[in-house]
Amino acid sequence: MAFFEWKKEYETGVKGVDDDHRFLVSLIDEMSVALSQGVAQDLLHKTVYKLADYARFHFKREENYMQMIDYSEQFKHEIEHRAFTKKVEEFVAKLDSGEGNLTHEVLVFLRDWLINHIQKTDKQLGIELVKHGLKDE
Ligand SMILES: [Fe+2]
Repeated sequence: MAFFEWKKEYETGVKGVDDDHRFLVSLIDEMSVALSQGVAQDLLHKTVYKLADYARFHFKREENYMQMIDYSEQFKHEIEHRAFTKKVEEFVAKLDSGEGNLTHEVLVFLRDWLINHIQKTDKQLGIELVKHGLKDE
């Protein structure tokens, strides 16, 4: 069984958001496979950087959508994004300084955070975006 697999229940109904989420899920799963295969840490770190970059890009996309519809929960939603970004940045700094490595525990954190955020926060946003006709963007 895959470590992290896309499930229909993760869908927000907004294509741009769902495609981003799918990509983030696949990156995290890819890292898990690579880790279990004993891939060198410096190669694993590259995927972590890719994930950090893409997460930032993706959050911005959601935040732009929120602005477009004048979303009442934007502030709370952005706090979650910022908390995650901060954690990932701290982790990247650790990798950069050679003090840390990618571990299974880190991947569990990334996976569980994303599942929880999608299910609670992004789905709520998705409902509002769909109401505003943004589902195909
Ligand atoms: Fe989000």
